[in-house]
Amino acid sequence: MAATILQGKEVAQSIRAELANEVAELNKQGIVPGLTVVIVGDDPASHSYVRGKAKGCEEVGISSEIIMKDADITEEELLIIIQQLNENPNVNGILVQLPLPAHISEHAVIEAIAPEKDVDGFHPISIGNMVLGNETMLPCTPHGIIELIKRTGTSMAGKHAVVIGRSNIVGKPVSLLLQQENATVTMCHSRTQNLEDYTQKADILVVATGRAHMIGKEHVKPGAVVIDVGVNRIETGKLVGDVKFDEVKEVASFLTPVPGGVGPMTITMLLKNTVVAAKKQAK
Ligand code: GUN
Repeated sequence: MAATILQGKEVAQSIRAELANEVAELNKQGIVPGLTVVIVGDDPASHSYVRGKAKGCEEVGISSEIIMKDADITEEELLIIIQQLNENPNVNGILVQLPLPAHISEHAVIEAIAPEKDVDGFHPISIGNMVLGNETMLPCTPHGIIELIKRTGTSMAGKHAVVIGRSNIVGKPVSLLLQQENATVTMCHSRTQNLEDYTQKADILVVATGRAHMIGKEHVKPGAVVIDVGVNRIETGKLVGDVKFDEVKEVASFLTPVPGGVGPMTITMLLKNTVVAAKKQAK
């Protein structure tokens, strides 16, 4: 039976509608949540993501500002900007778009963001709290993936979840969140041998490799929930995922499309974190 397509775009829309109501209530108390995005350099993909974030803010009533800097900005100059944003009470959330140019330490920049304004959930304090299971700002893509799986009505408890990819942004945190949902988690990566041996046993398969079309139907257990995190531009200019969509939709029970699956959820979780941050900072 063909998979149900998990339209992240639709789920994201309904969460954004809820957030818009929440922001309207906050406005009545004189609170306007504010997000500042800092982008360095002229990478077209990064600029496109940042435009999507600004559009999302507008949709729900979050005030947003984009600070664009040339690729030759020094680390010191960037750290000063972050310090100013940390001190600005109108800024509830700070996001520095990654990747940064090689001469700037991403670690130093992320660590400079005040943890209460870390709406990306990338600060070591946010990550530490996530590992401990404490309430904190969760990283947006992993959080969005968990919300999407919940919307399938599939209980994660006791299921075998396989994650392919071990990045700090997706693979590592999503593995942890799946485990906190009581799934049994296996992490695979570029050095895993006989990948199908693991993926064929997955009730939930999360693919975050950044390699176009690497997962085919031979990798997927019939009835699995398949979440495709990849966004790859192929020679034709088309955006495709890490999963062979047409093939895998014939075996999976649920499958996310690319685009329109995980991507819109990521931005929505960022909006949610910004609203939560604004509420906390207003107290
Ligand atoms: N670059 C790609 N994804 C992300 C993200 O979620 N946050 C930031 N800051 N940069 C990114």
